Amino acid sequence: MANETDQAEAPAESAAVTDAWREALASRRTELAEPEGVPTTQAAPIELDVSRRNFLRASFWTGLGVTIGGGVALFLDYFYPRNVRGFGGPVPAGNVADFPRGAAPIANGVGQFWIANLDPADTAENGSDGAEGLMALWRKCPHLGCTVPWVPTAGVDISSEIGWYQCPCHGSTYTKSGIRVFGPAPRSMDTMAIDIDDAGNITVQTGDITPGGPDNPERAVTHPLLPT
Ligand code: FES
Repeated sequence: MANETDQAEAPAESAAVTDAWREALASRRTELAEPEGVPTTQAAPIELDVSRRNFLRASFWTGLGVTIGGGVALFLDYFYPRNVRGFGGPVPAGNVADFPRGAAPIANGVGQFWIANLDPADTAENGSDGAEGLMALWRKCPHLGCTVPWVPTAGVDISSEIGWYQCPCHGSTYTKSGIRVFGPAPRSMDTMAIDIDDAGNITVQTGDITPGGPDNPERAVTHPLLPT
């Protein structure tokens, strides 16, 4: 009898275990199928990824903008002409009283020019060409750029006069007003603008250069205090 009872209880116990497993499995599937679980665990990384991408993009454009802006600022800062001193800017050239009319030109090394008070009565071939007043001539030869000196002893075949601007490189020769009379230079010597204040103080604007031409004599500057 005992055996029969045991045999009857065994299937019942087995069925109970099986039911427990089924419940456990059903419960497990239910947990895995929780609808809230999937979106929650996937949405967070997507938002994080988008945010990181925006941040990197903003950082890139900001960095690029700063780099380009800095480069432009440096360029402008380097090339903007402010408070220029020496050649390229205003250069003091003394007082008009220092320049007797008809005297030999005086060199200004800082401003790279020659300056003279031209006498309109100097009609010699190396003379003023009718110019009256102060004239500043850039010493750079219009041919190939050599420095042109005033040579008091220089002469040319076309004239018995001595005292010319004469380029040592290829011989271009100019009168006191910078008019070319000889040599390969394509034009007369270039002139610089001159300012004279009420007290007769002279400033040559070495950044204001006009290419030489037949009108050089007309560019001379007069002043009431200039010696006559
Ligand atoms: S550079 Fe002056 S003549 Fe050639």
